[in-house]
Amino acid sequence: MSLLEVVDLDAGYGDLQVLSGVDIRVDDGEYVTIVGPNGAGKSTVMKAIVGIATWQGGSIEYRGTDIAGMAPEEVVHERIGYVPQSDNVFPTLTVEENLRLGAYVLDEVPEDRKRDVYDRFPALADRPNENAGSLSGGQQQMLAMGCALMLDPDVLLLDEPSAGLAPDLVDEMFDRVDEINDAGTTVLMVEQNAKEALRRCDRGYVLANGQNRYEDDGDALLGDEEVRREFLGG
Ligand SMILES: Nc1ncnc2c1ncn2[C@@H]1O[C@H](COP(=O)(O)OP(=O)(O)OP(=O)(O)O)[C@@H](O)[C@H]1O
Ligand SMILES: [Mg+2]
Repeated sequence: MSLLEVVDLDAGYGDLQVLSGVDIRVDDGEYVTIVGPNGAGKSTVMKAIVGIATWQGGSIEYRGTDIAGMAPEEVVHERIGYVPQSDNVFPTLTVEENLRLGAYVLDEVPEDRKRDVYDRFPALADRPNENAGSLSGGQQQMLAMGCALMLDPDVLLLDEPSAGLAPDLVDEMFDRVDEINDAGTTVLMVEQNAKEALRRCDRGYVLANGQNRYEDDGDALLGDEEVRREFLGG
């Protein structure tokens, strides 16, 4: 059984429909990416899964339970980690405070997990008392991931983790995602940096105009003439 299975999903914002009949499957332990042009609806898929976008039809099964239409404050209890595309840390709070907030639905802050996050992201461990807003773009992205990891999620939804990062930091970010997946966390990632994302993932989906266009192993999509011409810049 899949960990997360989106079937025939319609979703959008209020009455506005963005996604039509979208299917996405993520198996336990897999690393799946969604690529596609601007405005394709990639972020909307993630927002629909966590209950931020408006659910309009279809099903979203997580561990066999239909979570479609659930409110975000309920979805967070399902231990689905979500790192939004932007505004994903509290800039006026410190690194430490942000991490503690990442675990706000738990009865107490899991100190062992916080240590794991600091071990995984040494740049955060070096500056626990700095305001998140004063960190570099890459450090903020690491902090946002760290906040999501505080819940020890079974699946991590990452919306464009490499956006706005300098080229050398892009590689480092992808390496961190590889490590998180290797350590057993299932990953569903949206990326603008489509070639690198497809190179790294197990399977990929190409979304356009709110609909599925292609799906296959990452390498197969990378090698597909039509996918390359239409979506990967040749
Ligand atoms: N909060 C919102 N209210 C209304 N429409 C929205 C909202 N957010 C996104 N949209 C619209 O939904 C469509 C899909 O947007 P979405 O953000 O899902 O695309 P995307 O594939 O993530 O694009 P990008 O690569 O630019 O991040 C776009 O037409 C966008 O204008
Ligand atoms: Mg987006």
